[in-house]
Amino acid sequence: MVFKTLFMAAMAAFPVLTSAFPNTPFNTSGRWVLDSRGANFTYIGVNWPGAGEVMIPEGLQYQSVSSIVSKIKSLNMNSIRLTFAIEMLDDIIDRGGDVTLQNAFNKALGNTNGPKVLQQVISKNPSFTASTTRLQVFDAIAAECAKQSIYVHLDNHMSKGAWCCNTGDGNSWFGDTYFNTNNWKRGLQYIADHGKAWPNLISIGLRNEFRKPSNAGSSLPYNWATWYTQVISAADTVNKANPDILIFLSGLDFDTTLSPIPGASDLGNGQRFQKSSFSYANKLVLELHNYQNSATNCDSIKNGLWNNGFKALDKSAVNQMPVVLTEFGYSQTDNSVNSVYAKCLAQYMPSLDAGWMYWVLAGSYYIRSGTQDFDEAWGLLKKDWSGWRSQSSVDNGVAAMVRASLA
Ligand SMILES: *[C@@H]1O[C@H](CO)[C@@H](O)[C@H](O)[C@H]1NC(C)=O
Ligand SMILES: *[C@@H]1O[C@H](CO)[C@@H](O)[C@H](O)[C@H]1NC(C)=O
Repeated sequence: MVFKTLFMAAMAAFPVLTSAFPNTPFNTSGRWVLDSRGANFTYIGVNWPGAGEVMIPEGLQYQSVSSIVSKIKSLNMNSIRLTFAIEMLDDIIDRGGDVTLQNAFNKALGNTNGPKVLQQVISKNPSFTASTTRLQVFDAIAAECAKQSIYVHLDNHMSKGAWCCNTGDGNSWFGDTYFNTNNWKRGLQYIADHGKAWPNLISIGLRNEFRKPSNAGSSLPYNWATWYTQVISAADTVNKANPDILIFLSGLDFDTTLSPIPGASDLGNGQRFQKSSFSYANKLVLELHNYQNSATNCDSIKNGLWNNGFKALDKSAVNQMPVVLTEFGYSQTDNSVNSVYAKCLAQYMPSLDAGWMYWVLAGSYYIRSGTQDFDEAWGLLKKDWSGWRSQSSVDNGVAAMVRASLA
């Protein structure tokens, strides 16, 4: 009893010592992401795709959700970037509700392979059945991540479920063939609200890799003014639906540039991005991608990243904000881990105390660009998701980078 009283008194005096996962909601303060205790959090994670034609997170025909999450945990990563397509939410809202695994696999893989892959998924993941729905699979992944103390960052990757990205895929910009802006905001609202049930959902990326459509069609003008109008409207919607989660803003040109944001420069129509004007300024985070895989000069990669957005980390920035490299990656089947590019990012991100998420965890895809059971050479995992594709590439690459970021 005495001990208990002393313990309670100690807890009250030093509440910051409590460390029970998940310590949400997260906020930002200047350039830092903070958990609910006020401790710094740096995203160190991996992309887990779920925005392909099937619109179910990949790999489940080969391994269980728990064994895949354990692989991520074994690297000491703390988060996943879980991608989804707006089409999944359009199906729920407009087309009679969430689609079953049976129907999703049949539709995407056909009536011969669909049922086969479904049976493999169920045999590896016996808690799923043919009538489990897609969003229930997302729920199961979030729950397993929570069990293993891993955070979930959702990412709207595409409107129409498919491999991303190119300028002619109809998903590139507001108003593009499949990119209906109202459906986009509605889908974000739906999933942000749905995610309130996930204790470990800390953030959402509004859209992956904006890019100039190769055929303008009915798209809105491709510029920062359009970006501002659409992105801020979506951010408002998401914040209203779920005021607790952080909102990641991505840039133009395949999310390689957010250059007018750190310094609040003119977006082209006199408008400027002013973080201080947002009632939820403490929820905003910037994200960039980098795929300069054939670069020969690390300084030029670093300068590019800095000038295209990472300088928002600096105290001199008008809009000082956290910036996370949510995609970068390289082949796991050759010596790419020793390339200038891989070495440069492995040193630079930890040196900035900036978050990062490797593309990609997979393994393989149920289907990618028309090829079923597509083997992913950039995947950390082997085609059957059973273990690392290359132990030495993982040891010298992401595992070393995790250690540097945690140090
Ligand atoms: C976060 O980490 C930085 C760098 O180590 C430090 O300067 C800052 O005070 C930390 N913030 C908190 C709230 O711990
Ligand atoms: C963090 O955000 C939540 C809303 O998600 C808010 O209630 C809380 O007061 C914020 N904490 C700080 C320290 O700003």
